[in-house]
Amino acid sequence: MRDYEELAKHRPSQNQIIKLLSQPDFFRLPLGATSRNQSKRLDKILGFKIPKVEQKLLKKYKAYYTGDQSGRKQKYTGSETWIGLHPQVLQTPYSEIQYFLEILKEFNPKSIVDIGAGYGRVGIVMSSLFPEASFIGYEIMEKRLDEGNRVFESLELDKCQMLYADLSKESFTPPEADIYFIYDFSDPLDIRKILGQLKAVNENRRAFVIAKGEFIQPILKKYPEFKSILPLAKNRSWDILQLN
Ligand SMILES: C[S@@+](CC[C@H](N)C(=O)[O-])C[C@H]1O[C@@H](n2cnc3c(N)ncnc32)[C@H](O)[C@@H]1O
Repeated sequence: MRDYEELAKHRPSQNQIIKLLSQPDFFRLPLGATSRNQSKRLDKILGFKIPKVEQKLLKKYKAYYTGDQSGRKQKYTGSETWIGLHPQVLQTPYSEIQYFLEILKEFNPKSIVDIGAGYGRVGIVMSSLFPEASFIGYEIMEKRLDEGNRVFESLELDKCQMLYADLSKESFTPPEADIYFIYDFSDPLDIRKILGQLKAVNENRRAFVIAKGEFIQPILKKYPEFKSILPLAKNRSWDILQLN
């Protein structure tokens, strides 16, 4: 099994990384490894500078959990951007994304949209599994989306793009896609707004939603149009649902 620690230490060339990405098991979790640790190494191997970007954000804005009233930093208002959350908690581990996407492989997906995309990890795993598919990651924090686009470009992932959007705005409508990925991007009201739009946009076509996180699970129970494609499981904090 691949030694991610060694790989991270030796900093492979861009060409080597592009080759590694073309191996569909590149993101699989080795026995005994933890998914967050593996993801941390993978961020480094792929060339992400996530801790640096998150530190910059934390210098400017208050952490999401703080009650700091000093006024030295701005509070990011209007959206839950999770500033101050550990980068490996903020993002879904690569191996988990691989696991979700492999479940949907038989449907031959051609397009994936991440609603609140962070740094665009979903796009990178998608490119490895479905090189012909295209990815759009919508994100409100420009520093995160710029870093995602920088890495997409360096890895020559020209079917992947991160775009700025405030998903909570009525003026934002998600495009048609075969798979949507949602990991607790915002509060229940915004999640409801997006689910309603996903129904409308995909009225006459099949689409899947990979839904992860504690906010979205109870909301989904109120939307019978989204049907789980997996057996019921207790204590699972994610689901895969089919529309139409
Ligand atoms: C928990 S992270 C998930 C990142 C990625 N989808 C993953 O699973 O690795 C949620 C992201 O949604 C973004 N977000 C929150 N509210 C948003 C909004 N109104 N519009 C666009 N992005 C938003 C946050 O900035 C954050 O990067």
